[in-house]
Amino acid sequence: NMADVSVQSDGRSGGIVINDDWPGYSLDLFSYPAHYSGDIDCVIIPHGVIMDRTERLARNIMDDLGDHDIVVLCVLKGGYQFCADLVDRIKALSRNSDRTIPMRVHFIRLKSYLNDQSTEDLHILGAEDLSFLAGKNVLIVEAIVGTGKTMKTLLKHVEAFRPKMIKVAGLLVKRVPHNSACLPDYVGFEIPDRFVVGYALDYNEYFRDLNHICVISESGKMKYKI
Ligand code: HPA
Ligand code: MG
Repeated sequence: NMADVSVQSDGRSGGIVINDDWPGYSLDLFSYPAHYSGDIDCVIIPHGVIMDRTERLARNIMDDLGDHDIVVLCVLKGGYQFCADLVDRIKALSRNSDRTIPMRVHFIRLKSYLNDQSTEDLHILGAEDLSFLAGKNVLIVEAIVGTGKTMKTLLKHVEAFRPKMIKVAGLLVKRVPHNSACLPDYVGFEIPDRFVVGYALDYNEYFRDLNHICVISESGKMKYKI
């Protein structure tokens, strides 16, 4: 029926598209930690907008996965804030409905970035024995998807443990030149190919303590370079 189709297509969208020519919001319009003044150029996604979009993603996720035990696989470190807020919204839905589903949260860690460059070798920590995923609905939660290579590797790893279903939620998808066909099932925002920080996304471990998603400045890159 028509109503179902329109809800479905909205849920399956590639997220809120932020175009390449979007200048972002001036930093003067929001508050942010003073220790980062000069280190960021603009706010590209204010914290409140992230929260609003997350609320909707939670509903889409529950519509699809809410019929069976869910295991959330949070990809650290960048994913911790998105995962915490998304799980919070899912819990709120569960509290306010009689169809409630047990949910577990498990943490794994991936590391592949130095400065603003992706390195070749990908390390997965905390994923040695995921046998408890067998027969479960698994939701992988990532902060950002670039080429999709990381996601592909992770999906292959998780599939081996025979879950009932695997879905991926990515807060951000970057429009990068070599974006593979591998995209998250639930996307918060599609963003330009620029290095962003904040909302737990880091540059050499800095900027996780910034609540908006911002574009790092050239001087910020220099200041925190390793
Ligand atoms: N910011 C922070 N971490 C990242 C990014 C980014 O733009 N891309 C991949 N990892
Ligand atoms: Mg990082």
